[in-house]
Amino acid sequence: VDLESILNIDEIEEVATKQISRKAWAYYYSAGDDLVSKKFNNEVYRKILLRPRIFVDCVNCDTSTTFLGHKVKLPIYVSPAAMARLAHPDGEWGIAQACEQYGAMQVISQNASMTPEQIVKDSLEEGQVFGWQLYVQTERAKSEAILARMNKLPQIKFICLTLDAPVPGKREDDERSKNIGSNLPVRSAVQQDPSGSKTTTDSKTPEKAVGVGQSLFWGTAADLTWKTTLPWLAKHTGLPIVLKGVQTHEDAYLASLYAPQVKAIILSNHGGRALDTAPPAVHTLLEIRKYCPEVFDRIEVWVDGGIKRGTDVVKALCLGARGVGVGRAALFGLGAGGKEGVARVLEILKAETETCMRLLGVERIDQLGMQHINTRAVERD
Ligand code: FNR
Repeated sequence: VDLESILNIDEIEEVATKQISRKAWAYYYSAGDDLVSKKFNNEVYRKILLRPRIFVDCVNCDTSTTFLGHKVKLPIYVSPAAMARLAHPDGEWGIAQACEQYGAMQVISQNASMTPEQIVKDSLEEGQVFGWQLYVQTERAKSEAILARMNKLPQIKFICLTLDAPVPGKREDDERSKNIGSNLPVRSAVQQDPSGSKTTTDSKTPEKAVGVGQSLFWGTAADLTWKTTLPWLAKHTGLPIVLKGVQTHEDAYLASLYAPQVKAIILSNHGGRALDTAPPAVHTLLEIRKYCPEVFDRIEVWVDGGIKRGTDVVKALCLGARGVGVGRAALFGLGAGGKEGVARVLEILKAETETCMRLLGVERIDQLGMQHINTRAVERD
């Protein structure tokens, strides 16, 4: 494929859909029940209008910012998403290469198809920013071993604890493809031994064929709480904690009480893959602005879900987000053209973000604010 001829994120998805296996497509595309949250995640950005100012010098445009104090060139990062090698052999390593090229942050999924050591091996120790996403396991010793491994990797700057999916959502496309190809349970690379040659046997494994999502969830703990899990984490890592999957202003406020251990939250409904009809991040951002705006001063607020255009990125930042994550766009980029495909995704989003900032009359990220958007249509929802 001529990647240059692909002009936007929807086209990347179209190209990848033709190239990747049916099973990979079903796993990536799928979302909970009727895909209401997945679709709304993107549609909600279209309802927010921009308010461009005229007669502003916009020769210069700087998209750089910081996450938890670490410099990055883009307010866009790659969200943790499992099993990148289902799309392309470059896998999560390929995503890391593209992120290095564009100075973007990458959060690695606990269910990555390559080990963390393989993923960061060609990345700069200083300068390239990674986070590790954790699904706490029922057998806590397994998670403790993973945390010990992360403490030894200087590229890993924080632990991202995902909380919106203690049990898997009902993803029917993924279930329908369960009998395609191998029926063996899909395993994350980190759960295999460090040499990658042997899978540690689980005490329980699914007895019949299940979709990729259900298979990966095996062993995930459903008993996490504010009171018990954060102190347990503090015992096993000194890295800052980012809580992923916050969907209400109540939980955003509670999370902010756990600063400085908790340094950021990610407003996310898991790309619509957990609880269908859960709110898009935009709604949660608006709730926080209304009921507990002090959260923005105490911790960083990141968002993900449905980001497909530079204008989506800019609108989220205007509402108070520090940055935005892309999940499927990166995976489909990989499917369209390996690491170069992911680089094309970042190139498109960067260029669109710059165009949007210039046309709004803004030079720097920290100038973006509520004065640049009209959210009336969203507030009526
Ligand atoms: C995900 N997501 C996810 N999140 C997480 O914390 N751990 C994980 O292992 C995964 N795995 C995963 C696999 C696939 C195929 C997708 C599409 C998503 C959710 C992800 O981090 C993010 O919240 C959403 O993908 C954001 O929505 P968009 O950008 O896909 O619309």
